[in-house]
Parts: sequence; structure tokens; C-alpha cells
Amino acid sequence: MIAMRSLIALASLIISSGIISCATSHPPSPAAAPAGALADGDTAAADTAVDAARVAATAPYPKGAEGKLIAYGHDIVTKTPALMGPYVRAGMSCEACHNGAGRKPHAGSLLGVYAKFPQWNKRSHRFIALQDRLAECFLYSMNGRPPAYDSREMIALTAYIAFLSRGAKVGEGFSGQGLVAITAPRKPNVAAGAKIYGQKCAACHAADGNGNNGAFPPLWGAKSFNNGAGMHRLATMAAFVRYNMPYGGPPNALAAQDAYDVSAYVLSHPRPKFLATQTIAFPPQPAGRY
Ligand code: HEC
Ligand code: HEC
Repeated sequence: MIAMRSLIALASLIISSGIISCATSHPPSPAAAPAGALADGDTAAADTAVDAARVAATAPYPKGAEGKLIAYGHDIVTKTPALMGPYVRAGMSCEACHNGAGRKPHAGSLLGVYAKFPQWNKRSHRFIALQDRLAECFLYSMNGRPPAYDSREMIALTAYIAFLSRGAKVGEGFSGQGLVAITAPRKPNVAAGAKIYGQKCAACHAADGNGNNGAFPPLWGAKSFNNGAGMHRLATMAAFVRYNMPYGGPPNALAAQDAYDVSAYVLSHPRPKFLATQTIAFPPQPAGRY
């Protein structure tokens, strides 16, 4: 952990000091942003909503067993492979895309998200619960399988997200949290993206896209998210990258076109494929639990 943080600090220092500067027949994509989700980031949320989200983000955990469960949910978000090994094949934590343990706006923020569920899901044409949405991130982003909905892990994740949602409006969540949608002036160019990748990304995510021993998450290859993940959508990745990458730097360091080009380059590589026919067996719980 200490090693990882110092690696990140070192790499950000290198980037910010300018040493590396200059500048379908679609797979099923349920982990994709729900319609409209990409649009809400830029609405510059009324200050009151931002304040309410900040209060939710910084509130101390309750004492006792309740606080412990919430803290466990937080730890699952930040140490997913360590705590949920059998459920994930991707070599990264939820936090890789939900930065700051889901408390950073425009970076996969989970603030207020509990209040947005249950929600109508257009793709599957049914109402989904927060647990269903979590199951999707396990299946697609983590390229794994979901834990049982009544497992301690699923309840902890739900409790953590509910805690990050106190004060949010039912049906709406907090505004000003979503990814900031961007458009590219020109068609994304993979070759131009390759150049940007070498200059601005490879130092952390490695030239082969495999990341660095868990310190920096993989962007493609066997340990990355699969082709059904929300991050596999070009517009979603470009929005995430433009606001949040290179890591440790200011938002919007890349031009919108560069964010699209480099994302197109990242997505041009092979990655795991989502297997729609796989059976998902929740682990059985002993009856004595009830
Ligand atoms: C590879 C990136 C990635 C990883 C890893 C990942 N997610 Fe996500 N997740 C996304 C994207 C992209 C979205 C859609 C975000 C948006 O539309 O703003 C999303 C959406 C969600 C949502 C719904 C948010 C909303 O606003 O409705 C929840 C909840 C969630 N993820 C939880 C998790 C959890 C828990 C994990 C770890 C078990 C995880 N995610 C891992 C990329 C990821
Ligand atoms: C200074 C190191 C650093 C640089 C440079 C950097 N990243 Fe990242 N990147 C990270 C870290 C660390 C995370 C995970 C964030 C977290 O855990 O809070 C991340 C996460 C990501 C993610 C989401 C997780 C995943 O694995 O899919 C994407 C996509 C991404 N970076 C793309 C890029 C692109 C494209 C560039 C170049 C424009 C870039 N990054 C530059 C450190 C870096």
C-alpha cells in the first residue's frame, strides 16, 4: 500500500514536472451508463447540492457494528481483489474507476447513487435494484461474478453506498457527480492515440497496457475489464480520461480530441470477452442464518 502510493506520487511528480510532457454489433453493455448519466456532470450543480454531497462524502462512520459494515464496504471498493478474490478476475479494484473510493465527482462518483435505485433499466426492460447494478460491475468491469445479494460483502457495499447518499433526493441522487461528457471535433484516430499513450500514459499503465503490479490498473489484456463494461464505451472512457488522467494532474489536461484518440487506442487492443451464457451461482447460505 505504501509502496503503491509512493509509486503513484513519484509518477505524478514526473508527469507534472513535465519530464514526460508535450503533449457495433456491440457486446451487451449493461454496465454502460444509464441513459443521461453522462450528461449530468457538467450541470455545475447548485452549490447547495455540491455541499450536500461533500457532507455525505466526509461524514464520520457511525459507531459499532453499523460503522464496521460501512467501513468494510469502503474497503471492498479500495481492495477488491484482496477481499473478493473468487469474484473478480480483473487486476484492479472498484476504485480504479470509482476514484477516491467513489467520493470524487466526475470520476465514477458513488455519492448519492443509492437514492437513484431502484431504477428502470431500458436494456433489460425491468426495474433493477442497486444490488443488480453492483452485480453488473462484478460481471463486466471486474470480469468476474457477483456475490450473493444477502452476502456480507453485497450488504457492506450497499451500506457504504447508502452512507455516501445520505441527504440525496430520492430518484435523483446528488447533481454534479456524473462523468463530464465530451465530444471530439474529428473522428477518433488510433495512430494519434498511440503517440499520446506513449507520452502520457505508458509511464504508469505500461507500454503493454498491463499496468504495474496492482499499483496502476491494466487498461487492456487478460487482467482488464471485459468488452461489456461501461468503460469499454469510447465516449465513457474519453470522458473519464479527460477529467481524471493523467492521474494526479489537473482535470482537462488533455484536449477532448486527444482524450478520444488515446481512448480509441486503448480500446483497439484485445481484452476479455463477456460470456452471456455463463451460469451465475450465488454461493448457498446456511439456513441457520435466518
Ligand atoms: C473498469 C472500470 C470500472 C470498475 C473497475 C468498476 N466500475 Fe462501477 N461503473 C463503471 C462505469 C463506467 C459506470 C457508469 C458510470 C456513469 O455512467 O457515470 C459504473 C457504474 C457503477 C454504479 C452505478 C452508478 C450510478 O451512477 O448509477 C455502481 C453502483 C458501481 N459502478 C459500482 C461498482 C463497484 C462496487 C465496483 C467494484 C466491485 C465497480 N463498480 C467496478 C466503471 C467501473
Ligand atoms: C501518474 C500515473 C498515471 C498516468 C500517467 C495515467 N494514469 Fe490512468 N490511472 C492511474 C491510476 C493510479 C488509476 C486508478 C485510480 C485510483 O485507483 O484511484 C488510473 C485509472 C485509469 C483508468 C480506469 C481504470 C482502468 O484500468 O481501466 C483508465 C481508463 C485510465 N487510467 C486511462 C489512462 C490514460 C488513457 C492515460 C494517459 C492519458 C492515463 N491513464 C495516465 C494512474 C495513471
